Amino acid sequence: MTALHAAITGWGEALPPAILTNEDLSTFLDTSDEWITQRTGMKERRVSHVSAVEMATVAAARAIACAGLTPADVDLIVYGGCTNEEAVPNSASGVQVALGATRAAAMDVNTACTSFLYGLSTATAMIRTGMARTAVVIGVELITQYMDWTNRNVAVLFGDGAAAVVVQASDRAEGLIGSVLGCDAEARQSLRVRGLGCSYANKAVSLGDTIWDFDGQVIFKRAVHGMAAASARVLAEAGVTADQVDLVVPHQANLRIIEAVARSAGIGMDRVMVTVHRYGNMSAATVPVSLVDALKEGRVKPGSLLLMPGFGGGLTYGAVLVRWGDRVTPLGESSMTLPPCDRTALELVHEIRARQDPHGRSAAGLMAPVFAESRVPHQG
Ligand code: ACO
Repeated sequence: MTALHAAITGWGEALPPAILTNEDLSTFLDTSDEWITQRTGMKERRVSHVSAVEMATVAAARAIACAGLTPADVDLIVYGGCTNEEAVPNSASGVQVALGATRAAAMDVNTACTSFLYGLSTATAMIRTGMARTAVVIGVELITQYMDWTNRNVAVLFGDGAAAVVVQASDRAEGLIGSVLGCDAEARQSLRVRGLGCSYANKAVSLGDTIWDFDGQVIFKRAVHGMAAASARVLAEAGVTADQVDLVVPHQANLRIIEAVARSAGIGMDRVMVTVHRYGNMSAATVPVSLVDALKEGRVKPGSLLLMPGFGGGLTYGAVLVRWGDRVTPLGESSMTLPPCDRTALELVHEIRARQDPHGRSAAGLMAPVFAESRVPHQG
């Protein structure tokens, strides 16, 4: 049976407890709190002590409980992110088995930082066409494990985290009411992580090559342009004006990018959710974590109109428009939690650096599985 709408009925996040501050970074990189704060707005970010699948599973379990459902009710899991432990099996299947969501189809969506927006659009389309009725869409990233910790241009920008939403078939005019997705592929080489993927296994990339190809200024300009254009188009196509948007929940790569996008849309920063200072850029996890934080802070009201623009490697971009439903409080809570972490964020980073060679580029450090296998998260 087809549904007219796909409402967001559950939400949850899983943030690793270890916090890496700008001061921590300046103990081993030629950088400073002043530079990072002024250029990016970032103050802290999280470093995970568990696998991406574990973070994703906890976030998904919390979202499912929030919707008043059980894993058995879920028939689709969309795992959005670009830091998969392995290509085969996919990561969504790891979440499926850890949750016990045995009825669910499980697929990965990798469009880098926009993976959650692409995943939410895909799940919504599948629900509207009757291919699914209850989906969990996850945005998750474990970037610290493949960061080039010798490169201050990128090492200060990213952090780990996960969040998920439940999307359900609905007769009410809720959920995604507009979606614009695109890809500025001409600039795809401006953000590239060498050392991950098949080209590395085939030795097309030698050990001496740069790991992160990253042209910050090119990305900056194209990000602002892509997010602003997608936002304008999604509003126009839905027949709503910027004044009617209650809250913008943007991708958080840089506070200056967020401000430029808001300015271009004619929306004041008082209507923009900003989390970049506390989590840095968590890639695919950034938009859903910001959404969950906005709900926790009471910034999403019944019936709110939310604009969520994003961009990422590819360079993919997009903007979705969401009409929130009546409920802004969880129906239930999951007992699933991340296991405790007995190390500081700085200790975790030094462990990762020790696995990499002096140039941060060893095959063992990059290619060896970081976690022996994905464990089932703790039942608290
Ligand atoms: N600490 C101190 N100095 C630094 C650091 C650092 N961490 N990083 C760079 N610098 C230096 C540079 O070496 C340069 O020095 P120079 O003038 O002597 O050559 C100087 O600071 C200025 O560098 P710029 O690159 O011009 O700095 P800019 O103001 O453009 O800010 C930044 C850089 C923050 C990366 C910005 O360009 C940006 O945010 N870009 C887009 C965001 C982005 O790419 N996000 C991540 C990828 S997209 C996604 O979300 C997947």
